[in-house]
Amino acid sequence: MRLLDFQKILAVKGVDIAVFLNASYGKKDSSIAYFTGGLDVDLGLLAIPKNKSPKLFIPGFEYDMLRDKTNIEVVRPKENLWDCLKEHFPRARVVGINADVLSVNELKGLKKRFGTVRDISNIVYDLRSVKNVEEIKNIEKSIEVTEGLFVEVLENMPFLKTEKGIADFLLKRTIDLGCEPAFPPIVASGKNASFPHHEPESVLLKGFLVIDYGVKKNGYCADITRTFYVGNPTTKEKKLYALVLKSQEFAIQKCVSGNTFEEVDTTARGMLGKHSKEFIHSIGHSLGIEVHDDIPKRKKRAKMLLKENMIVTVEPGVYVKGNFGIRIEDDVVVGIGSARNLTKLSKELRVVRSK
Ligand code: GLY
Ligand code: MN
Repeated sequence: MRLLDFQKILAVKGVDIAVFLNASYGKKDSSIAYFTGGLDVDLGLLAIPKNKSPKLFIPGFEYDMLRDKTNIEVVRPKENLWDCLKEHFPRARVVGINADVLSVNELKGLKKRFGTVRDISNIVYDLRSVKNVEEIKNIEKSIEVTEGLFVEVLENMPFLKTEKGIADFLLKRTIDLGCEPAFPPIVASGKNASFPHHEPESVLLKGFLVIDYGVKKNGYCADITRTFYVGNPTTKEKKLYALVLKSQEFAIQKCVSGNTFEEVDTTARGMLGKHSKEFIHSIGHSLGIEVHDDIPKRKKRAKMLLKENMIVTVEPGVYVKGNFGIRIEDDVVVGIGSARNLTKLSKELRVVRSK
């Protein structure tokens, strides 16, 4: 279905063939998993012509294994991958690539053989951003598992002595449950929580404790953040936490089709009032087969027009450098007129250890 939709777009845009490469170096192209229904390709190339069946070019290491796992024709490439591609698609003139992934050298090789190369990453990410029923179910499943892990952390807090201990526990339980981490756990206590992407250390400091984690199951990611408290929060701290929560809940309500992501962001910042200058990152991102399932730099996330069945994270925070941090993050399906929050985990401020 998504393949047919993509091929139709290629035809309209005058692109003869789209190619996605997982090279032995650099970034892998998650679009291969996307268009093959989750095939786990380590090295290889997926070629999708506008009006014919796609082909996978897979070297010897994985050729036999993958051939048995897919209905797509699998070709074992000869010496030069681009020569081989040209042999299989001799009439193609305009080649579409994902410029976020393909190296400059690969680009040269393609240009030499095909003539015109066009960046089609926008098309791919736009398609990927709107989820079908099966994709939403897969993300819901990952969220459910992740929520279970947060509950397990709370239950095991008496034995989890440090940030690193909590992170290791999350990773171990992820593997036990047959999943993989969507990204390395962020566990940040006390002043460490003032760094949104803090790497867990062998300490557990008093104050707010931010845990940001998600598993990947059936190829789709979850991404949830909860802030707990080590020690006894003051009234001022409880108030600030409540403000971040209010900001998040109002922002979630703006996740409706027709709004831009900027409106979600502005709502969150408006609620934070004078604390909005302490909200030092963007409101969220698209979520899918990658945890940040959108174009990272070139396209401004804020300008993203929300469409029905997009899944986005909503994660406002307040950070005072060297002092503390608070962040609350849920995964939300954009709807017509109303948003659907897939994250059910409690957002009450929990004291995890009174010291
Ligand atoms: N959960 C980490 C991030 O969104 O950057
Ligand atoms: Mn996130």
